[in-house]
Amino acid sequence: MALELVFKNGRVVTDSAIFKADVGVRGGKIAEIAARIRPEAGTRVVDCAGKLVLPGAIDAHTHLAMPFGGTISTDDYETGTRSAACGGTTTVFDFILQDFGETFPDSIKRRNDIAAPQACVDYSFHIGVKDVSGKLLYTMEDAVKAGVPSFKVFMVYDFGVTDGVFYEVLDHSKSIGALIGVHAENNDLVNYFTNKFVAEKKFGAWYHYLSRPEAVEGEADVRAINLAKAAGAPLYIVHLANKQGMDAVTAARDEGFPVFAETCPQYLYFTSDVYKRPDGRNFVCSPPMKGRASQKALWEGILRGDISTVATDHCPFLKKEKDWGKADFRKIPNGCAGIENMYPYMLSEANKGRLSYSKVVEVCATNVAKIFGIAHRKGAIEVGRDADIVVYDPKLRFTITNKKMHGATDHTIWEGAELKGYPEQTWSRGRLVFQDGKFLGEKGAGEFVAAKPIKLTTPDL
Ligand code: URP
Ligand code: ZN
Ligand code: ZN
Repeated sequence: MALELVFKNGRVVTDSAIFKADVGVRGGKIAEIAARIRPEAGTRVVDCAGKLVLPGAIDAHTHLAMPFGGTISTDDYETGTRSAACGGTTTVFDFILQDFGETFPDSIKRRNDIAAPQACVDYSFHIGVKDVSGKLLYTMEDAVKAGVPSFKVFMVYDFGVTDGVFYEVLDHSKSIGALIGVHAENNDLVNYFTNKFVAEKKFGAWYHYLSRPEAVEGEADVRAINLAKAAGAPLYIVHLANKQGMDAVTAARDEGFPVFAETCPQYLYFTSDVYKRPDGRNFVCSPPMKGRASQKALWEGILRGDISTVATDHCPFLKKEKDWGKADFRKIPNGCAGIENMYPYMLSEANKGRLSYSKVVEVCATNVAKIFGIAHRKGAIEVGRDADIVVYDPKLRFTITNKKMHGATDHTIWEGAELKGYPEQTWSRGRLVFQDGKFLGEKGAGEFVAAKPIKLTTPDL
């Protein structure tokens, strides 16, 4: 059978190398990688001279159409995945929030019924655990069999779990091929600081940060790692934003313990100073942006290999919803948009020399696929994997502005950020879904990607 598509004359980027090669696609999969591929009659040729040929990014952390903070996050599966495609992300892991009393397979079905007709690129799920009472705990294995082996527990919010439940879930995960992720912040301290500031009539966005400062997150990271160690289970820390937590992750990994940390572009670019701005409420997310020392520690963690993934925590809200908290930080829905900005920002940082392109591929694609059990299909330019490919032009200049984004949100915290280089095309399973600033994909064309059971016994993937 003839190749349907060949990416010619580009430089292919993997997590360990960059080399000149042509990439051939057949049946939506990468079929050939060679120094020179001769296109046959009818083969579409994409000239990639001067461009990089990258695997599509995998966003390990999104909240699409999620009921949260008294509303629903602005992007649904259509607008969120459309926006993803336009930023070079070809797979998203979205968070399902379990309902109280709901089995995990029912949670998956409830959300997949919404996602399947809407998604423009491929997607998979994690499940946010609320209730493992009675027999519900044992429905985790049914979720694993249904292709969703990753769960997240929250140590905060009104649906957060106790340390006892957290331990129980960790302990159970070991025998069923599941991985537990954690949102680590100390809930009691958040409540203590929040009440204190409210009593002192301190209501600005800056007090969102001061009610969740470095120690609030750091203490919970250390506790989460200790609980995982006690249970003998691997652990994935989502949206890590502070130095103490980073140091604890590094120490655990140095001991050989399988702890994996994710951070987000917003923690790498902004500091807590944003909460002093008049529009500080638009930056409110949890954990909040931290100080310079934490930001430095996160960048060092990426370069050292102790941050395994970079993901967005995409959870946008409209300006008018953020405005609910103009006079009271407690009323600001927590979360920001970023699904279209992650890969362009990280690649731009590589283009500016801060890290290598291969490192970006590793943390934004290859490691995500390996950790979450979809490496048989996603995360690398490799024969047999899905043809999820980004053609990146290192010479383009792009200034982020909400007008040029493709989601449903009416503002972006990234407004005005200047990028060196930008994706020119995004391909999802051999279909062109983005080119030269325009979305070309189709609602409903994205597929659910069933993940394999996860067994991580060492920090090395
Ligand atoms: O502020 C955030 N991060 N909102 C989304 C929910 C979460 O905690 O990940
Ligand atoms: Zn979280
Ligand atoms: Zn999140």
